[in-house]
Amino acid sequence: MAMVRLFINEKNKKGHIDPEIYGHFSEHLGRCIYEGLYVGEDSDIPNVNGMRTDVVEALKEMKIPVLRWPGGCFADEYHWRDGIGPKENRKKMINTHWGGVVEDNSFGTHEFFELCEQLGCKTYVNGNVGSGTVQEMSEWVEYMTFDGVSPMADLRKKNGHEKPWKIDYFGVGNENWGCGGNMTPEYYANLYRRYQTYVRQYHKDAPIRKVCGGPNVADYFWTEKVLETCFAKPQPGEGMGTRGFMDGLSLHYYVHPEGWEKKGSATEFDDKTWYKTMAKAAYIEELIERHGAIMDQYDPEKKIGMVIDEWGCWFEVEPGTNPGFLYQQNTMRDALVAGVSLNIFNKHCDRVKMTCIAQMVNVLQSVILTEGPKMLLTPTYHVFHMYKHHQDAELVDSYIEGNRTIGMEEEYQVPLLSESVSVDAEGYVNVTLNNLSVTEEVPVEMAFAQLLPSQVTAAILREEMHAYNTFEEPEKVKEEAFDAYEIRDGKVCFTAPACSVISFRIK
Ligand code: AHR
Repeated sequence: MAMVRLFINEKNKKGHIDPEIYGHFSEHLGRCIYEGLYVGEDSDIPNVNGMRTDVVEALKEMKIPVLRWPGGCFADEYHWRDGIGPKENRKKMINTHWGGVVEDNSFGTHEFFELCEQLGCKTYVNGNVGSGTVQEMSEWVEYMTFDGVSPMADLRKKNGHEKPWKIDYFGVGNENWGCGGNMTPEYYANLYRRYQTYVRQYHKDAPIRKVCGGPNVADYFWTEKVLETCFAKPQPGEGMGTRGFMDGLSLHYYVHPEGWEKKGSATEFDDKTWYKTMAKAAYIEELIERHGAIMDQYDPEKKIGMVIDEWGCWFEVEPGTNPGFLYQQNTMRDALVAGVSLNIFNKHCDRVKMTCIAQMVNVLQSVILTEGPKMLLTPTYHVFHMYKHHQDAELVDSYIEGNRTIGMEEEYQVPLLSESVSVDAEGYVNVTLNNLSVTEEVPVEMAFAQLLPSQVTAAILREEMHAYNTFEEPEKVKEEAFDAYEIRDGKVCFTAPACSVISFRIK
């Protein structure tokens, strides 16, 4: 295989990589919240105020920046008052969307903020537009954030929390084109204008950033109509200023290599399906560019963030598990999907301001799986861990000479290598590189504009494409130190093994 050259211009800064690009999503779905994150104060599983210690520690180590809750589809059926006050008095309900199981509301608002405090991450709360009232949403915001005398602040204090919490992001509905009310874009956008009015900013120095419900996949009509209803297009010479009502517009995109109806196995697939999966993952770049082009017409200054608050692989559930719980295994294929997607998000950090992989624990493309007291880190976890130094860094110019497309079907071709590069506050150049081939190793020469590397540390995730971690063998796939590189004439030279993710920190 011929050598490729990765050129890095570490002096050409192209934009800031917001930490929130590495965000996560947790819904009241299957074993994500219950068992996965929250086991209750009386559990034998080690916990702090009900939150599993092993999971919290692993997420902190991965540097989780933001967590979205309580849904998903669940959000538009969630009535927050059911989840406050003494637990024995909380309402029990059926989780109609997800498995028809009893939801006892033992994890509610107070527990969410407790979890985020333990994780040290920002909060992203998703409100209910589909089946909730403006008053309900407005009072929830008052309950969470008002620091004074008011009925909702008094109720929060009565329930044991004197001080208000901070909401960093607030989603006004979820998938309102589907499970969130089957609305048309114009109808939703008008509701959005109205509901968001009552998401009051009680802390002037810590404003809540409002996220408007955006499109599904390639529904460009939705994006256009929602923006048209919420904004006037700026006239020549005019900036957007404060004319809009939103800080973010969401986008949801899941990778189903075999299509929505027949999702295919998470662990059994052939080479053809591998490349199809990679191509479908890489397609998110087109979605970002095309939805982004519509956003540019209304918001040329890029003040509104694209918030990809649900993304990842969605396969068939693990055999023998509740189909409503969306529990799936996670292989090297998921790791490469994560690697490719995160590189794309980094490269579009001028518009993409947050993303949340779906979902954090035990649901869809999780970073963590649990079984009773056991916990394992998935290949996807390791990718997030290896990419963590990109958070809050500056994207810089990179280009791969000699990169080519690979694949087994004309329709599903992908680049052989995917990369993104940033420079962080400590002056390190962070490089993350994926080799998408399942057969070919690739010799790489990495060259810099000015930097003569003297300190290099690197890590690698490499295994056969079907490899995954089980509770019997939890460390089959794991990040390892990578030292198979040489520095020659100021260039870092190495071979990227087939089906691998490599990260470098270089000074
Ligand atoms: O993540 C699972 C579901 O996928 C979410 O509840 C919904 O928003 C999306 O359709």
